[in-house]
Amino acid sequence: MNLCIVGTGYVGLVSAACFAETGNNVCCVDVNPDVVKMLEAGHVHIYEPGLEELVKRNTAQGRLTFTTNIKEGLKNALFAFITVGTPSRPDGSCDLSFVHQVARDIGQNMEDYTIVVDKSTVPVGTADKVRELIQEELAKRGAALEFDVVSNPEFLKEGDAVSDFMKPDRVVLGTDNVRTAELMKALYAPFARSREKCIVMGVRSAEMTKYAANCMLATKISFINEVANICEQVGADVRDVRMGIGSDSRIGYSFIYPGVGYGGSCFPKDVKALINTARQYDYEPQLLASVDDVNDRQKLVLARKIEAYFEAQGGVAGKTLALWGLAFKANTDDIREAAALKIVEYLVGKGMTVRAFDPVAGDNVSKLWTAGGLDVVDEQYAALDGAHALAVVTEWNQFRTPDFRRVKKLLRAPVLFDGRNLYSPTLVAEEGFAYFCIGRRAAAE
Ligand code: UDX
Repeated sequence: MNLCIVGTGYVGLVSAACFAETGNNVCCVDVNPDVVKMLEAGHVHIYEPGLEELVKRNTAQGRLTFTTNIKEGLKNALFAFITVGTPSRPDGSCDLSFVHQVARDIGQNMEDYTIVVDKSTVPVGTADKVRELIQEELAKRGAALEFDVVSNPEFLKEGDAVSDFMKPDRVVLGTDNVRTAELMKALYAPFARSREKCIVMGVRSAEMTKYAANCMLATKISFINEVANICEQVGADVRDVRMGIGSDSRIGYSFIYPGVGYGGSCFPKDVKALINTARQYDYEPQLLASVDDVNDRQKLVLARKIEAYFEAQGGVAGKTLALWGLAFKANTDDIREAAALKIVEYLVGKGMTVRAFDPVAGDNVSKLWTAGGLDVVDEQYAALDGAHALAVVTEWNQFRTPDFRRVKKLLRAPVLFDGRNLYSPTLVAEEGFAYFCIGRRAAAE
């Protein structure tokens, strides 16, 4: 089948490469000519394991092409996917100007019946608006073309994007049109091998499903972070509590890892957006508002532990902290809403110097951080030299079993703050570290 995919961010490029891999002809449209040039040369502008290989192979075999010209992209395309960004506005609502612009572009340039697929995460009601804008543009040019608008939210995770797309838990298809649903199912058949994996529903329910899924996962994380904070107070260990509750199949083990709060491009934005939508309808979403508040507080839990530890030594001002991990999670260079940035901002604000290392996100932080007080180094152990303590903020594999003797030698004092509960408290204590983690009182307290 012929597909046009507008927007080559995470969702757009991963979808395009995976659809091309299963034999479709996919033309990607992006407004940025530099990005198009890079992609044509087989270079991927985002960090995502396995993606570059897929893009290279399908580009070389002629199934995957790139253009800045939407007219060219839409030529012969049965499906037009909208996969552009929907950034947050300061009030938490979604900025839909890119989505709306693409809808207008489609209306102005489509030449035949087209199934327009909303894959960007968009508030309930957006598909109706997209339909209206396309209709308006068609009317302006007197074109009586038929089209359909489907909501098809994407659930892939950064870092696992290709495998999540290739083996989805489910494919949500929001449409009332039976034929369109069948065509969408055929497109997804190579990925959703069992037909039950395609869940067909109304457009608004599909739009809502994406928010409900992300808000549910964010709620699990804020819940366990709250439990972790209470564990510290009462002398329990959240790692045991997690096992104790996760073994109940109704609860499950996943997404109940306590840590430094959720970050990334989706959870913070989507929780805020659903709160905003609910309030537009005069409904106060108390639970979601708390999920968001608990997360904001959690992002500073580690920084506050560091501050409290150094209080007895004249405060954090003038001290140096080595920090491992800047990305919002492992296996990505994405630093959007990353807890590490909040931690750095807080501690640098109190006069501390931070020397940080991340396997891939360092450059992104260096470009963004102009305020001083932060030095990004390109080797893990180079961050430690003469620092007063080490804080681990992202769970990269290479941080999981470090050479503790070397760490101890390089640091001024063996003090370890673990924002991801990566280490065994017993073993690090044996190595002579003062060890502080999440949801468990430090041994000395
Ligand atoms: C998320 C959803 O998982 C995905 O389905 C959706 O399409 C986009 O948003 P992503 O943002 O890539 O994906 O990351 P994810 O792996 O879900 O992690 C989100 C944040 O939660 C990270 O900051 C992570 O560190 C944190 N997290 C996750 C926890 O703190 N504890 C957990 O148990 C799980």
